Amino acid sequence: MASKLALVLSTLLLAVNGQAYDGGDRDEDAFSWVQPLNTTILGPYGHSPAVLPSPNATGAGGWEEALQKAKDFVAQLTVEEKADMITGTPGPCVGNIVAIPRLGFKGLCLQDGPLAIRVADYASVFMAGVSAAASWDRDLLYERGYAMGREFRAKGAHVALSPVAGPLGRSAYSGRNWEGFAADPYLTGVAMEETIMGHQDAGVQATPKHFIGNEQETMRNPLYDVNGTVGAVTFEAISSNIDDRTMHELYLWPFANAVKAGAASFMCSYQRLNGSYACENSKAQNGLLKGELGFQGYIMSDWGGTHSGVASIEGGLDMNMPGGLGSYGVNWKAGSYFGANATAAVNNGTVPESRLDDMVIRIMTPYYFLGQDAEDFPSVDPSTANLNTFSPPSSWLREFNLTGESSRDVREDHGGLIRRHGAEATVLLKNVDGALPLKHPKSIAIFGNDAGDDTEGYYNQQNFEFGTLTAGGGSGTGRLTYLISPSEAIKARAAQDKALVQQWLNNTLIATSNVTDLWIPVVPEVCLVFLKTWAEEAKDREHLSVDWHGDDVVYSVAKSCNNTVVVTHSSGINTLPWADHPNVTAILAVHYPGQESGNSIADILYGDVNPSGRLPYTIALNGSDYNAPPTTAINTTGVYDWQSWFDEKLEIDYRYFDAHDIKVRYEFGFGLSYTTFELANAVEVESCTGSETVSSRPEAQPVMPGGNPALWEVLYNVTASVTNTGGVAGATVPQLYVTFPSGTTPAGTPPKQLRGFTKKTLQPGETAEVGFELMRRDLSYWDVVSQEWLIPEGEFVFNVGFSSRDIRATAKFAPVA
Ligand code: BGC
Repeated sequence: MASKLALVLSTLLLAVNGQAYDGGDRDEDAFSWVQPLNTTILGPYGHSPAVLPSPNATGAGGWEEALQKAKDFVAQLTVEEKADMITGTPGPCVGNIVAIPRLGFKGLCLQDGPLAIRVADYASVFMAGVSAAASWDRDLLYERGYAMGREFRAKGAHVALSPVAGPLGRSAYSGRNWEGFAADPYLTGVAMEETIMGHQDAGVQATPKHFIGNEQETMRNPLYDVNGTVGAVTFEAISSNIDDRTMHELYLWPFANAVKAGAASFMCSYQRLNGSYACENSKAQNGLLKGELGFQGYIMSDWGGTHSGVASIEGGLDMNMPGGLGSYGVNWKAGSYFGANATAAVNNGTVPESRLDDMVIRIMTPYYFLGQDAEDFPSVDPSTANLNTFSPPSSWLREFNLTGESSRDVREDHGGLIRRHGAEATVLLKNVDGALPLKHPKSIAIFGNDAGDDTEGYYNQQNFEFGTLTAGGGSGTGRLTYLISPSEAIKARAAQDKALVQQWLNNTLIATSNVTDLWIPVVPEVCLVFLKTWAEEAKDREHLSVDWHGDDVVYSVAKSCNNTVVVTHSSGINTLPWADHPNVTAILAVHYPGQESGNSIADILYGDVNPSGRLPYTIALNGSDYNAPPTTAINTTGVYDWQSWFDEKLEIDYRYFDAHDIKVRYEFGFGLSYTTFELANAVEVESCTGSETVSSRPEAQPVMPGGNPALWEVLYNVTASVTNTGGVAGATVPQLYVTFPSGTTPAGTPPKQLRGFTKKTLQPGETAEVGFELMRRDLSYWDVVSQEWLIPEGEFVFNVGFSSRDIRATAKFAPVA
C-alpha cells in the first residue's frame, strides 16, 4: 500500500498546477492565470501559476499571543502527533482531530453548518443564508451567527463549518446558492463578516467555505472509474476558470471580508480552479489567501477534496478532511494523503518540517485565541456519535472518550429569535390594493403541499411531496426538533377571529380541479397559496420554476379567487410567471426561514411585522434570461475536459441585466412594505480623511488579515435622507450603487455596483439621515497589470435608491484629482 500511495502522490504532484481549457478563439489574455505551458508535462491546457512556499503565520492582527501558545504546543509534538493534527479521522463529529492527552489537548470537533449544527439533537434550525441575506440587516446577521455559535459550542463543537460565500450565485441554477447569501460580493461580504463575528464571539471557530470558484454542483468531484480505484479517474472535476480581475472583484471579495473578520479556518472547494484542484492550488491558497489577504488561520479541505499529499501541503492546504482516502472519505482504512504519508514526507526530506509545524501552528492559534483550551469548554455531546451517519462508531479507528450530559438541549430561547428573523427577512414582492396585511378575514382558504406539516420526518434531507420546506438538502441542512407549519400558524391566528379555515394540500388535485368545486359555501375572502422549491448539495437545479406543479396551482386558484396571495418557500430564484395575474394580489418570498416558518409568515400576513426584506438576487422574466448556466455536459472524453469558463466575468445577476438593459420581473434589492418611503433628492459626499481628494493607489502598508489595511480605510461618507411617508411604522433599506467613471475604468465594469446599504426603522412621518461609508476598496477596481486596487480618475456617480433599479437620488464626485 505504501508504495502505491507514493506513486499516487508523485503523479499528483506533477499535476499540481494542472490543466485548463485550450482556449480556441477565446480572449486568453484576459485570463491572466491561464498561460501557455509545457504541454508535454501538463497536457494541452493552460494553468495556474505556482506560488511557493506557503507563507508562515505571524499572528498579525491580534493573534500574537495565541500564536506563541500554539508554537509552544507544537514544540512538544512528535512528527507523528503533528501528522495526526493535520489529518481527520472517523469519530463522533463530521470532522475529528484526535486528542493528545499527554498535553491536555482534547481534540477538535468540526460540525456542519451553515444553518444549524446539523449532527445534533435538541438544537435549533435557523434560517438559511439566502433568507439571512434577504434581511439586508447587519444586526440580524450578527444575532443569527452568535446564537448559532452558542449552540455549536454548547454541543462541544470547536469548529462550525459555516458560513458560505462559494457559491456566490454566479448561476441561478446552482444547487447550493441557498447556503450562501447573495448574488453580490458586497452584500455577501457584509453577511460573511457579521456571521463570522457572531460565531467567534460565541467561542466557536468559523469556517468560510468553499474557497473558491465553487459555483456549480455538477462534476464538482472527479468521476472515478467503475472499479472506484483511487487515482483512476474517468474525468477530473470541473475547472472553474476565472480571470484575475473577476476573481478579485467578485469571488474573492466576500472571502476578504471573512479574513478581515478574523475567521479561524477556511475550507477549500471540491472543484478545480484554473486547472488545478482548489485544495492544492497554490496561487489561490498561498498567493491570494495567505499572502495577499494575510490569512492567519488554517485551510481544511472539503470532505474528500484532497487529491494529493505533498502537492496539497506545498499548495497551502493545512488540514485534510475527513482524513481518509477517496471521495467523501469512504475508504477510511485505505490510508490518507496526509497522516502517515505526511510523516514519511517529512522524514524523507520531501516536505520541510517547518511547513508541517506551520500547519499545526495555524490550526492551534485560533483554538487558543478563542479560549477553547479552557477547562470549561463543553465536551462533545455523546449523542452526536450515534446521529453521525457519516462516520458511525463502527467506523472509528481511534478511541473517543465521550463524557458529559448526553442529548443536551442547547436551544435556549432561540425559537423566538428565529421567528422574528423569519418575519424580518420576508420579501413582499407584490401587494395590490392593500391585500396585505389581512384584515381579520372570516373565511380563509389554504392551498398547496407546502402549507402543512412535514409528513416524512423532520430531517429535511429529502424532497418530499407533502409538507412545508424550511431548508434545502445535503450537509447544509438541519435536524428539526419541531416545526411550525404555515397551516398550523394561520389556523391558530384565524381562531382569534373565529374564522372559517379550509385547506387543500394536494397540488395535483388543486391543479386539475375547478377550485370552485372545492370550497364551501362561498368564495373565501383570501386564498393563501403555499409553494415550495427544493435545492440540494451535489445537484444543480434543473429549472427555476416552483416544484410540484406549483405554477398550475396558482393559475387554478387565481382563476376563481380574486384575492390570491402566494407565499414561496424556496432556495432562491423562481421565475413566477403568474406574478402579473390580476387575481394574484400579493406575493411573499420567505426562502428557507427555519423552524418557526409558519409563525414568521403569520406575523407578516396579519401585519404584526411590517415586511422589510429585499431580494438578494434578481428575478428575471424567463429562466433563459440568466447568463452563466452551469456546465452540465461535455461531448469530448479527455480526462481534463470538464471546463467552466467564467466568460461573463463581472456580469452576474443585476450587473448582467443592467449592462445589457434586460427587462426583469423583480430586480436585485427590491422589496415592498406596508408603508411607503421617500428619499430626499440630495445626496451628500463628505470626506473622512481630512482631504477632499485621495490617491489612486493605496499606500503600501504591511499586510494584515483582510489585506492591505489601506483598502479598508473609510474615505467618504455618503448621506441621504429618508422619510416614512405612509401610515404605519416600518423598516426600509436605502441602498448605494456606485457607477465608476467611464473611460478611466477598464472595460467590462458593470454600470452599477452595490457599495452600501442601511436598514432603518421609521415611524409614520419620521425622517432620518442614512449614511454609507465608502472604503478605499469600494471605489477601486483590480488592476491586473500593477496587481493593485486602483481608484480611477474621473467622476463617480453615487446612486441612492430602494433597489438596483429604483434610484431616487444621485451625486457626482471625483475622488482622484
Ligand atoms: C460539503 C461541505 C461540508 C462537508 C462535511 C461536503 O460535502 O461540501 O460543505 O461541510 O461535506 O459535511
